[in-house]
Amino acid sequence: MPNRKWIWTDARGKKQPYVTLYTRLFSPSNPHVAKVDAAYRAFEVKLRQNACVVCHSPDNASKQNPLLILSYPNQALSLRHETVRQIKEKRMPPPAGIFDDQERQ
Ligand code: HEC
Repeated sequence: MPNRKWIWTDARGKKQPYVTLYTRLFSPSNPHVAKVDAAYRAFEVKLRQNACVVCHSPDNASKQNPLLILSYPNQALSLRHETVRQIKEKRMPPPAGIFDDQERQ
């Protein structure tokens, strides 16, 4: 995967870049972090299956300006409503969205 070098595990076994993670964004006492993180991981698998990260990753294959990086949890979170709209309205992935109705749901 072209985006692999942008996400890694450091020598201490911590996921990096740390600043993009929900454990960094939210308070340690927030009871929802684990659930939101699990939801993101599941979503990220789907992004890869539907080729979203081919374009929405730092190598910017489609020359977007501004570039939306969906492969970082923090950016995916800030784009969550727009992402749902793009998928629902069959705008992403170009040219006609996700063909299979069940998969798109
Ligand atoms: C072939 C390259 C490509 C693929 C694959 C792709 N995108 Fe995009 N995406 C773009 C480009 C380019 C834009 C910039 C706006 C435009 O031209 O429509 C964009 C814009 C977006 C936006 C923001 C739109 C806005 O108006 O701000 C979202 C959200 C998005 N894509 C999500 C996705 C998701 C989710 C997938 C996978 C289901 C996906 N994209 C797959 C190229 C791609």
